[in-house]
Amino acid sequence: MRDYIAPILLSFCAFNMANAGQVEVLHYWTSGGEAAALDVLKAQMTADGHEWLDFKVEGGGGGNANAELQDHVLRGDPPTAALIKGLDIQRWARLGFLANLDELAQNQNWANLLPNEVANVMQHNGQYVAVPVNVHRVNWLWANKSILDKLNIVAPKTWSEFDQAAEKIRAAGYQVIAQGDQDWQHATLFETIALSVGGPRFYKDAFVDHIFNTKNNKIMAQVFERYYKVLSYADLSWVDEWPDATANVIKGEAAFQVMGDWAKGEFTNANKQPNQDYFCLPVPETQNMFLFNIDSFAMFNLKKSSSEDQLAQQALARNIMGEPFQKAFNLTKGSIPVRTDMSMASFDFCSQYSMSEFLTASEQQTLLPSIAHGMATTGTVQGYFLERLGELTRTPLEPDRAAKELTKAIRYGQYIIR
Ligand code: BGC
Repeated sequence: MRDYIAPILLSFCAFNMANAGQVEVLHYWTSGGEAAALDVLKAQMTADGHEWLDFKVEGGGGGNANAELQDHVLRGDPPTAALIKGLDIQRWARLGFLANLDELAQNQNWANLLPNEVANVMQHNGQYVAVPVNVHRVNWLWANKSILDKLNIVAPKTWSEFDQAAEKIRAAGYQVIAQGDQDWQHATLFETIALSVGGPRFYKDAFVDHIFNTKNNKIMAQVFERYYKVLSYADLSWVDEWPDATANVIKGEAAFQVMGDWAKGEFTNANKQPNQDYFCLPVPETQNMFLFNIDSFAMFNLKKSSSEDQLAQQALARNIMGEPFQKAFNLTKGSIPVRTDMSMASFDFCSQYSMSEFLTASEQQTLLPSIAHGMATTGTVQGYFLERLGELTRTPLEPDRAAKELTKAIRYGQYIIR
């Protein structure tokens, strides 16, 4: 057997070696579920004969990745691709650092495969400069099923049901809601509450268009009131990192976590099944609404690189948009595919639910970009928002004062020119 296989393997390798290039990929996918999902891409690139150089930056939510990237690009040493999202893509494209992917997009027919909301984010001046990986939904409430069952709690759909559940859970000695003390995690919780309490119109006014008037200021105060109430059920000194908070829910130490569906990657990685071990529930009062967060790899100009490396970059982008990757990766990562032509039959309950909520929200105009995850506004506004919200979380103020402070920070971010 071996004797037959060896020459075939050799000629396969010889073919691949001739075209072998390197891809250096900057990312911050370091948790168990995230790393397992990225392995799908690494394996595809290696099978194509290319070498994968892993440029891993620690820090959930991408906190430190931008600084690293900036440092490398300005030194004239850009990676092949970097995990950057939303308006950050526009910034790098505007500065002329990103490669034009139009030819590949045309060959793979991206225009007919991608929803408009996704395609718009990947293009700059009508040219594709980044490849979308997935669509994450942010407004999820993850719940440990055995805690709810034991305490006879029905999955909460409203905040008043949530409060009743929370009291029971607390009285039984469990942590109600697991939350790491990091600005972006607070923003993740806060934006879902803003959508829930304020509704889609308020959310867009505040975080996309930054329209603040008397009515919106009042709503922002109500958002803080609910936010502080939810936080009163959390102990921020318990964990820092989001996968540790998810682990608390998986292990049955905490009942809930509000987190995007990358948390589902952790449940999957721990061999847990939806509706048997855990529930994926829309954050109370956000049914049919969808806060989206699209992961994407921007491709950098590799003018000084070999033609093999440029081919490898093309292969990377092509693989990401390919059906096998979209399926295997998203099954592991917890998100849904970006391609609209894929069957969801082999996906689990949460992914199918997410897809159906995505389509409904898209029709009902309740599909909105996440500010916590860089989809809604500029990095500068987002930065001021995150920082001030972090302070208002650790040192709470009266809700209407907190509302004024946060609005001021968003306004300030708008005036800064960078
Ligand atoms: C990213 C996800 C990632 C999460 C935690 C989000 O901003 O979009 O891909 O899993 O942060 O690091």
